[in-house]
Amino acid sequence: MPIMRAAFASRFDDANPLAALTVGERPEPAHHGDDWVTVQVTASSLNHHDLWSLRGVGLRAEQLPMILGCDAAGIDPEGNPVVVYPVIPTPSDPRRISILSEHFPGTLAERVAVPRANLLPLPAGLAATDAACLPTAWLTAWRMLTTRGRVDEAAAVLVQGAGGGVATAAIALASAMGKRVYATSRDAAKRERVAVLGATAVEPGARLPERVDLVIETVGAATFDHSLKSAAPEARIVVSGATAGHEPKVNLRRVFAMQLEILGTSMGTPDELAALLTFCAERGLRPVQDRVVPFTAVEEAFVRLHSGDVFGKVVVDHAA
Ligand SMILES: NC(=O)c1ccc[n+]([C@@H]2O[C@H](COP(=O)([O-])OP(=O)(O)OC[C@H]3O[C@@H](n4cnc5c(N)ncnc54)[C@H](OP(=O)(O)O)[C@@H]3O)[C@@H](O)[C@H]2O)c1
Repeated sequence: MPIMRAAFASRFDDANPLAALTVGERPEPAHHGDDWVTVQVTASSLNHHDLWSLRGVGLRAEQLPMILGCDAAGIDPEGNPVVVYPVIPTPSDPRRISILSEHFPGTLAERVAVPRANLLPLPAGLAATDAACLPTAWLTAWRMLTTRGRVDEAAAVLVQGAGGGVATAAIALASAMGKRVYATSRDAAKRERVAVLGATAVEPGARLPERVDLVIETVGAATFDHSLKSAAPEARIVVSGATAGHEPKVNLRRVFAMQLEILGTSMGTPDELAALLTFCAERGLRPVQDRVVPFTAVEEAFVRLHSGDVFGKVVVDHAA
């Protein structure tokens, strides 16, 4: 059976997910229908999802070993540069969909297999290492801002927890859209970097100079009360994650008195990814990258993500 190099979960380790990571050889990814194609991966990027998988969240033992990675850019069978949309129709999953590396092998490999409909052309002027940042964290931020958050109706936006992949994406995108952007971070160094992205950085919980029309929430329990307090009348608070706890105390009086909308969201559609790719290519906007490492250093990339000390995406260059 043909084999390829890949980074995969070989077991689960809740306490030390890095110990469950193996870099080695795996079989070529299978096709699950006539419409499936194999893409040669040229760049990928890491997400917290990969660490959750190593901890055993969202995977069952019988699915091991599972190749990790949700994000990729690559070359299709006809030789065209493409970006891979990572959400796959999955009738056996209660959600009816799954993200690469949940039911089907992921992108941290020489090759990945997906339905042909999941391939989007790589826009001219966008490097594969940039495009590989967009399909998960940046797509999530794009949908939070546009479809769910109706950012075109907003003048001011608050992004909680500035260092994360979704948060840095939201800051960069909202700034590029010409909005006044505020961002919280516990870390002084991250607050300095936020300012470079075009936002006003504040400490968590700090009173803002104005109430905002849209809040981007991925932190959860630690920041949710501040999100409610910072919201202008009829503001949207859009939630796509809860890194610091998913059961915040919610002041309902503030929700109804201020007529707030609290909206959940997950990932995005292929059309939204296409719009995001076009926006980045046309505006010359490049994803915030913590670092780019060659595939031979993929273990270091995981150590970096696990340290929690990242600012932007950790990218893997498969061509280096
Ligand atoms: N639904 C989706 O489609 C989707 C897609 C991608 C990600 N997500 C989710 O979105 C969340 C964010 O993921 P991410 O990878 O972008 O970022 P992340 O690394 O999980 O963290 C985001 C930020 O949260 C802040 N934070 C973490 N722990 C905190 C605490 N105890 N108190 C206060 N702030 C804290 C940190 O900000 P500072 O250090 O700057 O304070 C950190 O930079 C995750 O829960 C992830 O699962 C969801």
